[in-house]
Amino acid sequence: MKATPTSMIIGSGSYVPEKILTNQDLEKIVDTSDEWIQTRTGMKLRHIIADDENTSDMAAKAASKAIADAGISVNEIDLIVIATISGDVGFPSTACYVQELIGAHDAAVFDISAACSGFIYGLEIATAQIATGKYQKVLVIGVEALSRMTDYKDRNTCVLFGDGAGAVVLAPSDGKKGILQTYIRSDGRLNQLLHVPGFGTKHPPTHENVDQRLHYIRMEGREVFKHAVKAMGDAAVKILKLTGLKSEDVSLLISHQANLRIIDATAKRAGIDAERVYINIDKYGNTSAASIPLALDEALKEGVLKENDIVVLVAFGAGFTWGSAAIRI
Ligand code: ACO
Repeated sequence: MKATPTSMIIGSGSYVPEKILTNQDLEKIVDTSDEWIQTRTGMKLRHIIADDENTSDMAAKAASKAIADAGISVNEIDLIVIATISGDVGFPSTACYVQELIGAHDAAVFDISAACSGFIYGLEIATAQIATGKYQKVLVIGVEALSRMTDYKDRNTCVLFGDGAGAVVLAPSDGKKGILQTYIRSDGRLNQLLHVPGFGTKHPPTHENVDQRLHYIRMEGREVFKHAVKAMGDAAVKILKLTGLKSEDVSLLISHQANLRIIDATAKRAGIDAERVYINIDKYGNTSAASIPLALDEALKEGVLKENDIVVLVAFGAGFTWGSAAIRI
């Protein structure tokens, strides 16, 4: 194998809100059906943030679990990297709110915006920071409350998204375990296919812009689907090449949970059979940047991933952004 890890996961945690939105609930809101949603996406339920809950609350809960799992003190956290496109406020970063909530007062903190690929972007950035020798305990969190940006009058998008958070604590590797390689790419020419046009400098939150529903997610689903299948397949193959791993070396594939058909296509392209593919899209829908760390935490806690296993992560999201990672547990 070509890769020597510089950082490794020493703890993980996740959190989803209590409130559940089922396909049957959605049938009452828009012209859709449980049958259409399940066949076209694989989704059955999604969890929705409470009215008095914020993105930072979900992130802090996942982070505290990851810190406890790692068996370290919160004071040891020296960097917090949060992947989110649905932060608490315009500024400052959601990471600043999470820092306050968990009490990690000795850390540097910032957010990154790479939509559904954000957690893999976060892993790459955190690993590079650990490699400098400056940081010893880094929290990487993927968190999203896309329900707050979802237009529940648009059946093309409102059936897809759920809320949640997942976190890992990274530390310098022991030389064997850890993140073997990461790969990230983007193509900004395709930004119009999946975006929230409003609330930034382009379309500030004027009454007129809000009346035009510019503050909600807009997506050309069919186009996004085609690009996602190609980019995620390419990213899965690329990470095998970069690490020198063969398909049969992979214990588990955790793909971004956007659509069961995209997950199946990615696994097929990477030569990974269905038994080695982690699926929880039925329970959570598309939780964007939270989807991979949420699945990773579940797979670790359920014992689906065991010591020395190789897990491959693959994601795709708005931007477009995409990427992959290979980790020895
Ligand atoms: N219920 C019933 N019918 C629907 C619904 C719905 N919720 N939504 C769309 N339809 C209809 C359409 O209107 C269309 O009808 P028509 O043929 O009469 O025009 C028909 O179903 C087929 O629509 P398509 O858009 O072609 O359906 P498709 O099979 O492509 O599935 C979906 C749509 C699920 C959105 C799919 O395209 C997809 O998963 N796209 C990718 C999403 C993704 O990967 N996102 C990743 C990043 S997310 C992020 O970064 C935040």
